[in-house]
Amino acid sequence: MINRRTFFSQSALSLSLIALPTLVQASTVTRRYQLAADKSNVSFDDKGEETSLWLYNKTTPGPLLKARRGEIIEVEFTNRLDHPSTIHWHGIRNINEMDGVPDLTQAAVEPGETFTYRFPVNDAGTFWYHAHQKSWEQVARGLYGALIVLDENEKFEDERDQLIVADDWLLDKNDQIDTASLGNLGHWSHGGRLGNALTINGSFSPGIEIASQGQVKLRLLNAANARVLSFALNDKLPMKVISVDGSPCEPFEVGEVPIAPAQRVDVIVEDCANLKKLFEVSTGSQFEAASFNPIKQNTTQQSVIHSVAPYYQQIDSADARLVEIHMQGGAMGNLASALFEGEERNLRDLAMNDSKLWAFNGQVGGYDVTLADVNLGDAVALRIWNDTAWPHAMHLHGQHFWVKSSEFGQEEKALLRDTYLMQPGEKEDLVFIANNPGLWLFHCHMLEHNAAGMGGVVSVS
Ligand code: C2O
Ligand code: CU
Repeated sequence: MINRRTFFSQSALSLSLIALPTLVQASTVTRRYQLAADKSNVSFDDKGEETSLWLYNKTTPGPLLKARRGEIIEVEFTNRLDHPSTIHWHGIRNINEMDGVPDLTQAAVEPGETFTYRFPVNDAGTFWYHAHQKSWEQVARGLYGALIVLDENEKFEDERDQLIVADDWLLDKNDQIDTASLGNLGHWSHGGRLGNALTINGSFSPGIEIASQGQVKLRLLNAANARVLSFALNDKLPMKVISVDGSPCEPFEVGEVPIAPAQRVDVIVEDCANLKKLFEVSTGSQFEAASFNPIKQNTTQQSVIHSVAPYYQQIDSADARLVEIHMQGGAMGNLASALFEGEERNLRDLAMNDSKLWAFNGQVGGYDVTLADVNLGDAVALRIWNDTAWPHAMHLHGQHFWVKSSEFGQEEKALLRDTYLMQPGEKEDLVFIANNPGLWLFHCHMLEHNAAGMGGVVSVS
């Protein structure tokens, strides 16, 4: 009998070896990293209260992985937890076998086992990695980190380039992860697991070192399970958005950056001599998330280097094959019953017995639900209708899509994203060229919504 796990890892290995030479040159640099998922205690501030988390290499966020565009990243992942796990490389146009979705693109990595991820990085930008097995629990406990791919002329160490990883933890009164509420159906049917403690780069209100004058680039990343964050600077300093989800965009200026779970927004601040504070403002008041401390620069260069072109040009949904997806369910929703594993069942039954609360087109989502089956090279428009009472951060694995975004105010912006924040009642076309073969998840990145049925598969072959 073939053990499914060995079978999967063998096929992943041979497929990746076959697939790689077409994407990269033989001479390409390989960046090697090791990540071990483990239980660890860390302190979010200097008060010494330790919080037990599940982390990569015992740090929060996990180690920052860096590579240059066109290189290969190789990560030897060891699972030291008592639970199966996998790593997903969020935003990377990955080889399907390396995408890290358990039971879809690989078998879960069991406790004590090791799995090597190996893939080329073809786009420069801000990406991240996180556990994709029961991600609503594993990400909430800390299993994530950032992955930065540098452009040809960007520097590996640069005081004008600052990563800002935000997370919103739900802690109990002893400063521990509130485990009693993991799986809470109230969270799952409403806005997801919202936290009560905001960290930036793994600390409460840290001081961040930046250059003392000239431009600075801030790479904002929201690693929260469900909370939509919004960032502003002291004195309402303008921020120029230059890249979203690892794709360069037509630059535009904002005073606030809304950022949904899993999204990344890179901004330039013109003169960091004025930069003092980072505020989180989604609640309507200014919460001091971090402060900035100037350091002496090593260079005389005053500006930030960044790429300007997205990897493919905007396409119109009129030229694309249309796939309509109605998002349904949740609290105050419109869904009385839905199809689940071949059977039509009422929502109460689904909620109580299977923790399922959300659906696409009348069907509770899952890895067995194919939302679209398209040919390699097709232009595809996922026409998404948010027929629910909640915002959702819709994420497509394996490729980025063009969207006429309403996230930054009234005026629509054409953006190439991998995660789009949809408001209740909003309808939007997510348009992409399906040029990456495989089975790709499309799901809400409010991780509780995903677990409760808001996810399905886009098959490209
Ligand atoms: Cu960032 Cu399917 O995930
Ligand atoms: Cu959602």
